[in-house]
Amino acid sequence: MASLDLSQLSRSFGGTPAVDRVSFSVPSGAFLALLGPSGCGKTTLLRLVAGLERPDGGTIRIGGRMMAGPGVFVPPEARGLGMVFQSYALWPHMTVAGNVRFGLRVQRLPRAEQEARAAEALRMVGLERMGARLPHQLSGGQRQRVALARSLALRPSLILLDEPLANLDAHLREQMLAEFRRIHAASGTSFVLVTHDQDEALAVASHVGVMNAGRLEQLAAPQVLWQRPATPMVARFVGGGRTVPVKVLGAKDGACAIRIRDRVLTVPGLAPAGAGWLCLRPHDLLPDPAGALGAHVLDSRFRGGAHVVTGLLDGAEDGGEIELVLHRAPRRGEFLRLGLRGGWVLPREALATPLPRPDGHAICTKPSPDCQRTALGSGCIDFCCAA
Ligand SMILES: Nc1ncnc2c1ncn2[C@@H]1O[C@H](COP(=O)(O)OP(=O)(O)O)[C@@H](O)[C@H]1O
Ligand SMILES: [Mg+2]
Repeated sequence: MASLDLSQLSRSFGGTPAVDRVSFSVPSGAFLALLGPSGCGKTTLLRLVAGLERPDGGTIRIGGRMMAGPGVFVPPEARGLGMVFQSYALWPHMTVAGNVRFGLRVQRLPRAEQEARAAEALRMVGLERMGARLPHQLSGGQRQRVALARSLALRPSLILLDEPLANLDAHLREQMLAEFRRIHAASGTSFVLVTHDQDEALAVASHVGVMNAGRLEQLAAPQVLWQRPATPMVARFVGGGRTVPVKVLGAKDGACAIRIRDRVLTVPGLAPAGAGWLCLRPHDLLPDPAGALGAHVLDSRFRGGAHVVTGLLDGAEDGGEIELVLHRAPRRGEFLRLGLRGGWVLPREALATPLPRPDGHAICTKPSPDCQRTALGSGCIDFCCAA
């Protein structure tokens, strides 16, 4: 296993940045998921780590060793990595065991060692009895596991997976995710999984990075990403969040006083006085005749013993559709008053310097292996220690 450290990593194609000054550190043994809309630079980032692309600038360290940087470029085969891509090409004429042994044969390992390692890798992915089969005699999920075993047999310190589940149906994806989690724990290898499916990322990863237009918006534990998004993009992208423009009156002890219409509410957040965003998830809102927020009913259906209402959140950016549960049937177009039982406040503009942490500690300068650093504006705030 190995840690992965990127600093100011950049790669452009024809003058357009595909990966734009990305910096992060994840500890050895991490399961990092990279998430973001199509075209945001996930594959390019993975190819840079693999050594299949050369950076225009910045550095890549794997297990502390410089792999790419000024005057340094370690070729892919010398980086000690495993790679599993969406199209996991197996040799169709070779048995499963033959496919898994292939890389070991190329490395000219003794035959007995090749067989022992292939057997171990197949055991790890739960295919120990399938070694004699040909790829076409396996299901899609089993073939994907052979591709993973082929990587594991090389005993890489880091495995890179680029949308490995994209070709599988929903049920299989779920199963394979559980498998990935198990294999990650059993092998101790660090994983970097690229996906555009956030449920996938949040379910399995120890760390999740959200990318947008080549930039890393935030890298944090799944729960932190959900509860304390660092940017409005993350707030909207993760978990169907909504953002409402608000006026922040002041901040104290990790909470902000915000004005919505004629009301002043106190909501957790990190924003100075001025223009802000109130970031909301569906479960942060509940029907409340005295509530400060409101939504117009677009549609409602009876499900699970209650009325599931789709509403248009008053004042929200980005469409602002939300789902609510009501115990009566609402009229279409009705205005529902909503109360707040959660939420998170961010500054409207990215801050030039990050705010001090709520507990008064300085900005994180020495990330420990347990530390989930969160980019906010241009700086880093060490949220995990604040919790
Ligand atoms: N070899 C290439 N030549 C030119 N443009 C590329 C190349 N690879 C990627 N890009 C561009 O870089 C951006 C990021 O692509 P990619 O890393 O594949 O995104 P993702 O994997 O997040 O969908 C896209 O705009 C894509 O068109
Ligand atoms: Mg991609």
